[in-house]
Amino acid sequence: MAKTIEWIGEFDGHLRLLDQTRLPTETSYLDCRTVEDVWQAIKRLSVRGAPAIGVAAAYGVCLAGDSEASAAAACDYLATSRPTAVNLFWALDRMRAAIADHQAPRLAARLLTEARAIHAEDHELCAAIGRHGADALADLPTGAGILTHCNTGALATGGDGTALAVIFELHRRGREPKVYADETRPLLQGARLTMWELMERGVDATLITDSMNAQVMREGRVGAVIVGADRIAANGDAANKIGTYAAAIAARYHNVPFYVAAPSTTFDLTLASGNQIPIEERSDDEITRGFGKQTAPDDAKTYNPAFDVTPAELITGIVTELGVFEPGKVAEALTAAASK
Ligand code: MRU
Repeated sequence: MAKTIEWIGEFDGHLRLLDQTRLPTETSYLDCRTVEDVWQAIKRLSVRGAPAIGVAAAYGVCLAGDSEASAAAACDYLATSRPTAVNLFWALDRMRAAIADHQAPRLAARLLTEARAIHAEDHELCAAIGRHGADALADLPTGAGILTHCNTGALATGGDGTALAVIFELHRRGREPKVYADETRPLLQGARLTMWELMERGVDATLITDSMNAQVMREGRVGAVIVGADRIAANGDAANKIGTYAAAIAARYHNVPFYVAAPSTTFDLTLASGNQIPIEERSDDEITRGFGKQTAPDDAKTYNPAFDVTPAELITGIVTELGVFEPGKVAEALTAAASK
């Protein structure tokens, strides 16, 4: 598969991103040579998905030059690109710590080592999430339907994904998951990206619009829902792509287990609940002129939140690299693991 994020060269090299705005019809790459290039790529969703945004931003700091002041300024600037995915801020904090602790001679080499470590670690986190999630879903019958929302695969992370890593692992284990992919209005990450990834890997995938998922559950086609997250508060409330909350409500009504899969880097234990998670609002043309076609009257008033918060009480389990936890118990488990 095409590489989502790749650093080309050594510490004086540049960042190559698969331009996700062009998928699925075109596989093309963006060569980012400045911090501004990376900021723009994150902002317009050429690179997107919480862990991938963090990895790309970490490499972005490596483009700032060899001075502490310019690297610190790059961290501050990249932090303004998107507000919801906490992985961005987590990765930039790691880069700030690298700036603070670097030894002579070259800061740039130290920063690249750190960015590469963040990238490689995310790869491992994804693999562990895949294994734990597949274990948790072991009781689903072979060939069961699994519904997912947005894109949480190799395009969204430094590895195989979060929720999609679980599906890929079930597929590898011969469990023949039949995936229903919500198209994910308004930017169609499900239709454009998740369908592309699932089909590339030979997973049975069926595209539906977001508004169909309750009916698909009502028809008994879905044995479990699994989605990713952009930020999870200490009480287990989880922010994810707009439409996730409605899918969780529909799942509860139909008695379908609803899982969230995310690495520890997606947790924000400084926030007591999901009410405090900042929700990105994006421009109105995404819903009035999606993909260049006008679909609403001129000057239509709009509201376009890019994420919503699913309350912990609707979540059956949160799949992390450490295992699967009840939403109310995950903060404790992560804190205990971090103090080891
Ligand atoms: O706006 P996006 O495409 O960056 O939103 C992505 C999502 O909401 C994903 O579900 C989330 O980041 C988890 S990715 C492993």
